Amino acid sequence: MAAIRLLVGSVYGGALLTAREIRTTLESEGHRVTLLEAPELGDITCNDEPLLVCTATTGQGELPPNLLPFYLDLREQLPQQPGRPFGLIVLGDSSYGDTFCGAGDLMEEALYETAARKVGETLRIDALETAEPEQEALPWVRHWLTLLDATDA
Ligand SMILES: Cc1cc2nc3c(=O)[nH]c(=O)nc-3n(C[C@H](O)[C@H](O)[C@H](O)COP(=O)(O)O)c2cc1C
Repeated sequence: MAAIRLLVGSVYGGALLTAREIRTTLESEGHRVTLLEAPELGDITCNDEPLLVCTATTGQGELPPNLLPFYLDLREQLPQQPGRPFGLIVLGDSSYGDTFCGAGDLMEEALYETAARKVGETLRIDALETAEPEQEALPWVRHWLTLLDATDA
């Protein structure tokens, strides 16, 4: 069973709902999920659990206000997390063109700078294609957990 830290960035609630569904589902399967709706850097530096970021994109490829302070502190302080696994679920809208799911790129870059290690491909959920992001996220998370297991071994 895994223990993960789930960091959420959401403006209108879609990413938050998705993250809550992930938590409910994983907890019912025996995993431990700490859902961070207004994460602070200390929430991740006090432990070494794998990180799962579930964030929407806002503005022009930017991070939602509730995740932005975490991101800025991460960039500024760069607490080193060598090899720490992370995964990315990003909500966006492909009609935004070049900034499609840009929030995920920002988080990925910042986490790489801490020497954390990405597990799995980023899941990009396009609002033009689906109105139920959790339906795409749940199977992806299950697969992500198997990748985590495999890299643990
Ligand atoms: C003001 C605004 C700006 C947005 N900017 C982007 C963007 O730059 N890139 C992108 O991929 N999606 C963008 N989106 C789409 C949202 O990321 C998408 O609708 C997402 O599902 C919203 O998730 P939330 O309900 O958790 O906020 C934007 C949406 C709004 C309303």
